[in-house]
Amino acid sequence: MTRILGISAFYHDSAAALVADGKIVAAAQEERFTRLKHDSSFPTHAVHYCLGDLEDDLDYIAYYEKPLLKFDRLLETYLGFGPKGFRSFRTALPVWLKEKLFLKQTLRRRLPAADRAKLVFVEHHESHAASAFFPSPFDQAAILTLDGVGEWSTCTFGVGEGNRLRLEAQLEFPHSLGLLYSAFTYYCGFKVNSGEYKLMGLAPYGKPVYQELILEHLLDLKPDGSLWMNMEYFNYCQGLTMTNDNFHDLFGGPPRLPEANLEQRHMDLAASIQSVTEEAMMRMAREIHRRTGQKNLVLAGGVALNCVARAFP
Ligand SMILES: [Fe+2]
Repeated sequence: MTRILGISAFYHDSAAALVADGKIVAAAQEERFTRLKHDSSFPTHAVHYCLGDLEDDLDYIAYYEKPLLKFDRLLETYLGFGPKGFRSFRTALPVWLKEKLFLKQTLRRRLPAADRAKLVFVEHHESHAASAFFPSPFDQAAILTLDGVGEWSTCTFGVGEGNRLRLEAQLEFPHSLGLLYSAFTYYCGFKVNSGEYKLMGLAPYGKPVYQELILEHLLDLKPDGSLWMNMEYFNYCQGLTMTNDNFHDLFGGPPRLPEANLEQRHMDLAASIQSVTEEAMMRMAREIHRRTGQKNLVLAGGVALNCVARAFP
């Protein structure tokens, strides 16, 4: 029997899963045990829940992304944006140095009994693709992954067949449908990587009156669903906020403070970005269908958690 322990940690929502001979036998998020929402620490409790006392009986430990490639992206972004990028670099670096760059040692130290298990580092979007395709009921399917950002990829598509998958194309940071949605989440006063569902829930109370403004200024959405973002309106490459003054001027004021009253404007912004997201996803799905000819489509990544956009007509 081949036993694989999958781990995600040190970003958000740490978790562990155990796969034995191709079947998921246990999976848990660390926050369920520690009661800390989005707990990003090493998932000690979740691992223990999955393995019990059988830590020494593992063949592989799979980590959900490639740390060095991600470090490469962070470094290049910070350097690319010069001294302005130093603030977020300074904030992120201690975590990287402590935990991520030395991940092999960290995993070995945290799982001492699993010393004969091989460590495998899978690309972030490959992990998303696997999470969607392998548990799906399909023997063949097109795959679309969409999130904020992994190492460099923000969106990929490909094809899964039997026990294999291959990703064929990608969009790269900073151009990201997920980060665009998170920018509006931030602007409307909700927490990034957490409150996106609130923005989605707010959308039906508004009208998409800002849709044209978004498509005209913030991004160039191509007919095939690929997109190019105008970074003159965003701050996430160089600072600790998602948006900048150009963005605030375009939409009529500073970001809403958390807990401040929600106005019609925020509901209209939510409806507008929801509509743009649905349009982009629809274009991507059509393009993937055209290019792969597959009749099934599986989705994964944070943007795919947008259950309203996912309910394709
Ligand atoms: Fe992701």
